[in-house]
Amino acid sequence: MSTAGKLIKCKAAVAWAPHQPLAIEEIDVQPPKADEVRIKMVSTGICRTDDHAIHGDIGGVNFPVIVGHEGAGIIESVGKGVTGLKPGDKVIPLCLPQCGKCSSCLSPHSNYCFKSHFNEPQNVLPDKTSRFSCKGKVVDHFVWTSTFSEYIVMPPVAVAKIDDRAPMDKVCLFGCGFPTGYGAAVNTAKVEPGTSCAVFGLGAIGLSVIIGCKVSGASRIFAIDINSSKFEMAKQFGATDCINPNDYTKPIQEVIKEMTGDGVHYSFECIGNTDVMNAAMECTHPGYGTSVIIGVASHDAKISFDPLLLLTGRTWKGSIYGGYKSMDSVPQLVSDYVAGKFKLDGLVTHTLPFTQINEGFELLRSGKSIRTVLLF
Ligand code: APR
Ligand code: ZN
Ligand code: ZN
Repeated sequence: MSTAGKLIKCKAAVAWAPHQPLAIEEIDVQPPKADEVRIKMVSTGICRTDDHAIHGDIGGVNFPVIVGHEGAGIIESVGKGVTGLKPGDKVIPLCLPQCGKCSSCLSPHSNYCFKSHFNEPQNVLPDKTSRFSCKGKVVDHFVWTSTFSEYIVMPPVAVAKIDDRAPMDKVCLFGCGFPTGYGAAVNTAKVEPGTSCAVFGLGAIGLSVIIGCKVSGASRIFAIDINSSKFEMAKQFGATDCINPNDYTKPIQEVIKEMTGDGVHYSFECIGNTDVMNAAMECTHPGYGTSVIIGVASHDAKISFDPLLLLTGRTWKGSIYGGYKSMDSVPQLVSDYVAGKFKLDGLVTHTLPFTQINEGFELLRSGKSIRTVLLF
């Protein structure tokens, strides 16, 4: 019997308040309204940003909330007026929309859609209401995705239809981790052959940056992490030098400068730590170095630096979602993956049933996992 147009009762991991374990609850998910779709999730990855969100470190997040932003699912039903998506389609919910109408979407130079959470909080759907409730209480959405629920409702400007052959237990990585890191290297920094790169933080994002640097032909790739257990995988993906800042008394930027002469061509901050952002910028060549911020710092974080560091010719920039226009790029990236262009399976170190989500978060916090993928 079709569930279209009906309220669905299903399982979700609800964050009732900051700093608490998630509660697996039965929730109510309303049918999609006009210009919305309802998706049955198949898999979801646990990203550090979700951990920040449930600790209340991301602005515009209200509790109770269902977080999660790296998933893959199948369209269950569509609301009035939806074109281009139909029940049964395999999709990836996008944590960065592409509305097609704002000044960024209309520009070839940016992917920063103004419907993004950073611009307009996406704690509710565009009509300013939620489709989730639990025990009589309204539950908020998170960046419209809320992939830690068996069913979700989203506006189609943030839902990418993907290749029917896509392995649904793996392609959730295209919802955040892989494109964010890989694109930062190939689109944002535009790494050139024969250059040197320094990648700070070796989670799924940093390792995806390394994949991008390697594909671009970088000849030296420094992988930096305070957890040396990440180095083996970094080497597998192409790192040439692995450095633990705790092994040195000097600041890490000095160490890297000494190892390269005058500094690296490109650096990437994949942690969300403002001190490391400064170190990453400082370890680049003063005349032509480029440093890219990818990590999401706490919403009240500020940075200060000596402006001379940029005056000499450095470039300091950032990117979200690897600079990819999400709706345009994700279907192609997934098809390329299906065709064997990317070898990412090593990024998924653990697979658990959805109901063991808190164990998945513990694996991330203890530094034991890269990505845990949860299966519904
Ligand atoms: N110096 C070096 N490495 C560090 C430091 C530090 N001061 N602090 C943390 N790290 C390392 C951790 O040991 C870990 O291996 O950074 C890595 C971060 O990886 P994850 O926590 O797995 O994060 P990931 O999901 O890759 O996301 C990275 O991007 O999307 C954002 O919010 C996300 O800001 C986060 C960043
Ligand atoms: Zn993420
Ligand atoms: Zn837009």
